[in-house]
Formats: sequence, C-alpha cells, structure tokens
Amino acid sequence: MICRISPETMARAAALLRAGNLVAFPTETVYGLGADALNPGAVRRIFEVKGRPATSPLIVHVHSIERARGLVRDWPENATRLAEKFWPGPLTLVLSKRPMVPDEVTAGLGTVGIRIPAHPVALELLRAAGTPVAAPSANRFTQLSPTTAQHVFDGLGDSVEIILDAGPCAVGIESTVLSLATAVPTLLRPGTISLAQLTDIVGRIEPAPPPVGAHTSPGQHLRHYQPRTRLIMTGPNPLPEGRGAYLRLPPDAGLAAACLYDKLHALDALNVDWIAVDPVPETREWDGVRDRLRRASAH
Ligand code: TXA
Ligand code: MG
Repeated sequence: MICRISPETMARAAALLRAGNLVAFPTETVYGLGADALNPGAVRRIFEVKGRPATSPLIVHVHSIERARGLVRDWPENATRLAEKFWPGPLTLVLSKRPMVPDEVTAGLGTVGIRIPAHPVALELLRAAGTPVAAPSANRFTQLSPTTAQHVFDGLGDSVEIILDAGPCAVGIESTVLSLATAVPTLLRPGTISLAQLTDIVGRIEPAPPPVGAHTSPGQHLRHYQPRTRLIMTGPNPLPEGRGAYLRLPPDAGLAAACLYDKLHALDALNVDWIAVDPVPETREWDGVRDRLRRASAH
C-alpha cells in the first residue's frame, strides 16, 4: 500500500522493519526495498519478493558513520575521507564485514556494501528502526529501478505492506559503488558521483570490471535495469519495423540521470515494439547513465 509520510506511517514502518517485515522507502537515488539487515529471515524475504538470485549482495543503509564502522572489520583512512565528503549521499563503500552481518546480506562474501542515504525520510526511518537496513532497488530482478512510489507499486503490488511515498527521487540512478576491500580501490558500479570526484580523494582507482552475462561477478549482470520493451541504441543500423518511441534525454548528465527511469517507465507503458535512444557523450560525468543504457539495451 502506498502511504503518505506522516508521524504515524513513519512509526508503523519502523515497527514493521523491527518485526522482520519489508518496507519500501524513498532514497535520493531510487526507492529501496528494506529489511532489518541483521535478521536473516527478513533479508531472505527481499530475495523472494524481487525474484533476485541469492548470489547478488545487498547494500546496507545506516544513518551515521559510527553505525557504518560498527559493521566492518577495518575502516581505512580512505573511508573516512570519502564518508566526510560524500555521505549522506549516493556513494556505496564496500568494506570487509564483521561476522554480525549475515551471509544472506552479502551473498556469502566477506565484504559488505554500506551507505548513508541523503534523504530525510530514509534517515528518519533508519533512526526510528534503530537497525541497519538492507535494501536493493524496489523492483523485480532485471527490471527498471523505481523512482516513484507508483513505480514500486506497479512492479511489486501488495507483496510489500507499506510503500512510503515522498515523491520522485532527485538523483534518479543507483549509487556509485566503490570497493575499498581491494589493494587498489575498485569502481564496481558507476553513478552520479564520478570517477574523477573519487580519484581526487583516494588517488588511483581500478575501473569497473566489464559486465558479464552469468552470475560470476556479484551484481554485475549485463541484463539489468531493463524495460519490457526492447531498447535500441541508434547507430549505423536502421531501426526495426513496427511502432517505436524515442527516449530523449536532457543534455546535462545529472538531469538525464534524474529523469532516465521515469521516462523509461512511461515509454514502456506505451506498448510499442521498440524504444530508441541516441548514444550519450563519452565523458566521465555520463558514465552512470551510459552504463544503465548499455545494460538496458543488452539482449
Ligand atoms: O542507490 C542505491 O544503491 C540503491 C538504493 C536503494 O540505496 N540500491 C541499489 O541496490 O541499487 P541494488 O541491490 O539494486 O544494487 C546493489 C549493488 C550491486 O551492484 C551489488 O553488486 C553491489 O551493490 N554490492 C553490494 N554489496 C557488495 C559487495 N559486498 N561486494 C560487491 N558488490 C556489492
Ligand atoms: Mg537494483
């Protein structure tokens, strides 16, 4: 059920989380499907509702750096620098985990992805629940991420008891994921915090590994973030037969990210045969949007 934000709905959502239930909530990036990260049964429910393979690790959301530090074995100097600069915000740090973080959250890996979201509703929920919250994007596996409460409801229906509605997400694509658990920091997923911004703070960073089709690299599935309708990058080949629609993005990378999923959801609902999009610039600030378009158009 979609619920407007009020003190009562916030209290109910926090109680649901504490009792091991799922809550869909807004973040600045996309809507998340949250469960108590320290309750393995609750975390397993996320995988059931999403139809997500258990090999794909979840991001844990906390409301303070102190809480983040409590979940990991070591907290490198780079983590302090990045957290001070970018948290709360759309950056996930992958660090070596403490045993208290269940295997269900990390897909059995020895590392955990953590972030402090920059959204007042998310932060209030995290404080009220009093527990770290594991949350992937609140969509079925491989489908488009939700940037409104209605997107969440359209995809998951009543399998989530409460969907907290705080309007559209400002950032619009998922967080940048950076691993600090490798000798040289590794970019695992590009986002709106660019490689250049991260390099300024930590120095050399290994680029994102190329996406793969199978489940060999957690969360790096090539077919991801897809509309039901076939998405085609325009280029040398002619567009196919049938009825199509154009995805037009604003010329600014940040604005394009903010409207990308909403536009794709809307075009998907037209029931056309294909959606076409022009390639975006090859510059660093477009990495996040380019990555999502590449995955959304992989067949
Ligand atoms: O913006 C976001 O990050 C949103 C909001 C809800 O916070 N969440 C999100 O979660 O996009 P999800 O599950 O759709 O994507 C999680 C990403 C995956 O690419 C996954 O591989 C990576 O984070 N990840 C999480 N934990 C990891 C770990 N221990 N090692 C490597 N990658 C990890
Ligand atoms: Mg996702």
